[in-house]
Amino acid sequence: MARINVAIAGVGNCASALLQGIEMYKQSPENVIGLMHYDLGGYKPGDIKVVAAFDVDKRKVGKSLKEAIFARPNCTTVFYSQLPDYPVQVHMGPVLDGISEHMANYDPDKTFIVANQEPCDVAKVLKESGAEILINYLPVGSEKAAKYYAEACLEAGVGFINAMPVFIASDETWAQKFRDKNIPIIGDDVKSQVGATIVHRTLTKLFENRGVILDRTYQLNFGGNTDFLNMLNRSRLATKKKSKTQSVQAELKVALADDNIHIGPSDYIPWLNDNKICHIRMEGRGFGNVPLTLDVKLSVEDAPNSGGVMIDAIRCMKLALDRGIGGILNSISAYTMKSPPLQYTDTEAKKMVEEFIEGRRER
Ligand SMILES: NC(=O)c1ccc[n+]([C@@H]2O[C@H](COP(=O)([O-])OP(=O)(O)OC[C@H]3O[C@@H](n4cnc5c(N)ncnc54)[C@H](O)[C@@H]3O)[C@@H](O)[C@H]2O)c1
Repeated sequence: MARINVAIAGVGNCASALLQGIEMYKQSPENVIGLMHYDLGGYKPGDIKVVAAFDVDKRKVGKSLKEAIFARPNCTTVFYSQLPDYPVQVHMGPVLDGISEHMANYDPDKTFIVANQEPCDVAKVLKESGAEILINYLPVGSEKAAKYYAEACLEAGVGFINAMPVFIASDETWAQKFRDKNIPIIGDDVKSQVGATIVHRTLTKLFENRGVILDRTYQLNFGGNTDFLNMLNRSRLATKKKSKTQSVQAELKVALADDNIHIGPSDYIPWLNDNKICHIRMEGRGFGNVPLTLDVKLSVEDAPNSGGVMIDAIRCMKLALDRGIGGILNSISAYTMKSPPLQYTDTEAKKMVEEFIEGRRER
């Protein structure tokens, strides 16, 4: 059977949803929702195999992957519980700036607790595990830690998928490092199946296409998972805010002035767990300069919302590896990420990915 050997940095809610989805679709291929294709270029979801995992939380480090995925503070919905006993134990990663200090003030069930262990050498573990791809699922604001894992990939010759908003794929210096070593990279900051970003982008495009002038807009998000708890520390938020804002601005011919667009996480509500709520408001003018407003509320389980997108990104990276293609994978980055190095509309990006899968586009 074709295999894609994957490593995961950050065994949180997104990792949980991803692995549940892989196993669910392996067992019941007739019920596949939320992927571009069940068979993508010869690879099915069940071909993805996790061979290494890294975390820093004492309830996860040293534990089997299955135990770690369902350990607190993970709180996403369990939609498929029959996970196999993976022969993988979670390694201690270097903490660096992965954990915000304010998180120490919360109920242990809700927050991170750092394990008292020496960090492993991530590049060495990657090499020994046979990993071909590492997914970076670290908390927002982990600037140093994210870059440490990216360096480890460069050292170990492992492809890098950056699911969070530290700018690596979209930073030219980093992109060049991956080009120089012919190692593929997809990033930055995963764009969920129907999440706040794609809804906001689609409505912005609708305004453009229908000739409505968008004067001002906001997008407020809140939830009860560790991602939202972490983001209460506003000093960690700069890249997340930038990533989400530029993704919406990219749909406009003329960008809105900073004062007229506000996008960001706004609060943490513990009882919501992994349920994320998003409110979008758009104020504009239509025919005759007459005002119109649009208010939208989205309620969605956060982590599963990005699981299918990640399964597609992993399989596209595997195709690149098979074809000997390194550096930025532009089409799949534009389709699956909020801050790709090159932005395209979602419709254009999807078309480009189909061409890439069929081998009619290089990257
Ligand atoms: N739909 C989505 O959920 C979505 C969409 C876009 C982006 N993201 C981003 O993806 C990332 C992961 O999201 P999540 O919901 O799984 O977060 P999470 O808080 O559930 O998981 C983060 C994990 O990283 C671990 N960690 C912290 N520092 C570490 C380090 N130095 N080394 C290794 N592990 C470390 C934590 O212990 C935790 O297990 C976040 O940055 C989030 O903003 C998620």
